[in-house]
Amino acid sequence: MAHLHTPTDPEAAAAVSVAGLTKSFGKVAAVDGVSFDIARGEVFGLLGPNGAGKTTTISILCTLLRPGAGRATVEGCDLRAEPAAVRRHVGLVFQETTLDLDLTARENLRFHTRLYKIDRHAERIDDSLELVGLADRQNDLVKTFSGGMKRRLEIARSMLHQPSVLFLDEPTLGLDPEARERIWEHLQRLKSSGRVTIVLTTHYMEEADLLCDRIAIMNDGRVVALDTPAELKRAVGGDIITIKMGDGGLDDADLESLAGNGQIRVERASPRELRLTVRDSERHLFDVIRYFQHHDVEGIAIERASLNDVFLHFAGRTLQAAAE
Ligand SMILES: Nc1ncnc2c1ncn2[C@@H]1O[C@H](COP(=O)(O)OP(=O)(O)O)[C@@H](O)[C@H]1O
Ligand SMILES: [Mg+2]
Repeated sequence: MAHLHTPTDPEAAAAVSVAGLTKSFGKVAAVDGVSFDIARGEVFGLLGPNGAGKTTTISILCTLLRPGAGRATVEGCDLRAEPAAVRRHVGLVFQETTLDLDLTARENLRFHTRLYKIDRHAERIDDSLELVGLADRQNDLVKTFSGGMKRRLEIARSMLHQPSVLFLDEPTLGLDPEARERIWEHLQRLKSSGRVTIVLTTHYMEEADLLCDRIAIMNDGRVVALDTPAELKRAVGGDIITIKMGDGGLDDADLESLAGNGQIRVERASPRELRLTVRDSERHLFDVIRYFQHHDVEGIAIERASLNDVFLHFAGRTLQAAAE
């Protein structure tokens, strides 16, 4: 396809554009032909289990790792040709913390503004601290901070040079539910400020669902689905009936006869759990109950499609199973 730098060129309009990206470590294809475009101001999620290739993908986009094959741009700057320009545009919050625990929050930020020769540092620091709700704790030593506060301080630091694209790798990993919600709150504020495109990785469904405008579901180095959370759920099509089996279990012949006329999609979510996807659970529920009346069943539950189901649908296994 011809590449033209016109205003309608999707690559020029995109904050991030990735085409056919690959990266191998020895025999492991960590990223295996990934393509997507991220619009300015969008919150874009890479959702997938451990080992899916999320960190590798964003490490390449931040120029921390060299790509194998493929092409990528950040704010129109090519990763290979203009890595320094890419670095000026991106902010990073990665997993290893590099905060100095023996300095105060403000001193940590001041150190960063010196290191990166950031102008109007006092103003920028005030602004960043405000953004993550740490203004009142700015003169406290970071070693007195909780995990959530440290993560928020790292977000503040990542915004000091006013990046146009902020990359966050598992921003709430290891945080308790309350700290996680505060991070979500601050990321939503950052989003509504309209000043930055956000790319985050997560293996938490609810996080992706809550924060992201669009989600790329990754599995084994590939993007297996990419859409808005609502469209992804719609694609799964219908309600999910979960059947927890007792000791008896079910054999594959049983599963085939249950799927029968194709109205019900049957998947084995785990050895003792079946998931049936049906267009209309009210119509099929009695058939399902009748079918299982002579089997050892511990419970039957009905739910609307969730992102968990979306992952199962596109990746062929549950997120939990994939992470194990
Ligand atoms: N530096 C590395 N050396 C060797 N293998 C790696 C390295 N980094 C990642 N991998 C492998 O690449 C795959 C993808 O890893 P990663 O991108 O960290 O996944 P995720 O962030 O989705 O958990 C995994 O199989 C992982 O073991
Ligand atoms: Mg990772």
